[in-house]
Amino acid sequence: MKMWSGRFRQPLDLQFERWQRSFDFDRRLLSYELTASGVHAGALKNAGVLSADELIGILEGLQQIGEMAATSKDPVEDDEAEDVHHFVEKQLVARIGDVGYKLHSGRSRNEQIATDLRLYVRTAIDELRKELAEVCVVFTDRAEQAGSAAMPAYTHLQRAEPVLVAHWLLAYVEMFLRDADRLADCRKRLNVCPLGSGAVAGATLPLDRAFMADGLGFAGPTANSIDATSDRDFVLEFVNALSLLGLHLSRWAEEMIILSSQEFGFVQLPEAYSTGSSAMPQKKNPDLLELVRGKTGRVIGSATALIVALKGLPLAYNKDLQETQEPLFEATDTALGLLPLVAEWMKAVEFDHQRMNEAAQSGFMNAWAAATYLVNRGVPSRLAHEQIGKAVKLCLEKRCELHDLTLDELRSLNSAFNRDFHECLTPASVLAIHDVVGGTAPARVRQGIGAARKKIASLREEVHAHA
Ligand code: ARG
Repeated sequence: MKMWSGRFRQPLDLQFERWQRSFDFDRRLLSYELTASGVHAGALKNAGVLSADELIGILEGLQQIGEMAATSKDPVEDDEAEDVHHFVEKQLVARIGDVGYKLHSGRSRNEQIATDLRLYVRTAIDELRKELAEVCVVFTDRAEQAGSAAMPAYTHLQRAEPVLVAHWLLAYVEMFLRDADRLADCRKRLNVCPLGSGAVAGATLPLDRAFMADGLGFAGPTANSIDATSDRDFVLEFVNALSLLGLHLSRWAEEMIILSSQEFGFVQLPEAYSTGSSAMPQKKNPDLLELVRGKTGRVIGSATALIVALKGLPLAYNKDLQETQEPLFEATDTALGLLPLVAEWMKAVEFDHQRMNEAAQSGFMNAWAAATYLVNRGVPSRLAHEQIGKAVKLCLEKRCELHDLTLDELRSLNSAFNRDFHECLTPASVLAIHDVVGGTAPARVRQGIGAARKKIASLREEVHAHA
């Protein structure tokens, strides 16, 4: 039996009927639909709409449906169910008879789908934050293992200043921790319960909304039934947070691809996550990285689809909202699929520390440190910059590095140069002068590793508390 056929004289056009169904994709919300239905049934009993026996019958029926779905290896099938809500009603009535139709008393699918989606996103956030914590652990472990190894840092993709490899890896940890934070923030806002909002104006029976919210682990009921049944902000917020995560992953992937090219040779691609060429026998290609970069497009595409679907919708529920489900699922699946592979790739990758270190020693990356030497001797910064720039020009003509210049050559630029100048040019002292919070001086990076570990530990605790 349809959920709405009474007022219709004609059956649905068959092609339209098939096309408008959402069961093929919203059946993945089944477990949330069953849980939320159980809580609604409890509220119906408290409101005197269901007898104690009827409640027990309905709860048992719901449980059986859950068990059937959990034990079948294929997704549940039903050619007639319009959506997951219709499916549950049909299944329930098949199991317990007409009393199953009582479950829908005082509720609407509009509040049901809004509730199911909140539960789905909440679970997805918890899983993603758990995966993000693991990714952060791997990056931090690799940072720790890199010890005192140095590499060039780039601006404009030109050599800029030497940094510790650890410092570079910790930059990614910061991005991923922000992603985890954004998801937590989204979780806070979505964690309210639409049940009892009805179709648009609120339930027509005296249902205890606080009881239902509590039963589903929500912080409380939503404040306005019109908003609650039409709001998909949380879906968009979530997928936007995933877009940023995807963006970070794509930047990471792109950087690793560049650094693994023969031109850089800093990164040796792990064979277990690379493929060869069917034509060119010598090739080892960074497939995992390229797919990470490519799949990010799906997530951003989903976010775009969502914002366009929601734009201009009048209040309250509109069937357009059904179109928010697939982009949500697509973005979630994509992000959840990426993170464990990123973690494994990072465990397996090898860095060519010798090559990175050599690169860190040339290309005048100590020029700012050289200018700082003059600044520390009272030379105004702009003039010091100019004079070291001239020293670099001289080196370029002589095809040498700053430390190859003689004291006489240096003194012709500024008499403040002294014998100790050459010491300030070594990679170790260049690293050491970046001695500020968040800088690459080794002691600061050690602190950075400690701080990252602390943040990861509390992220893990939070995830654990929600499990
Ligand atoms: N399948 C629908 C959706 O995802 C459920 C809500 C249907 N509500 C309605 N008034 N037709 O949006």
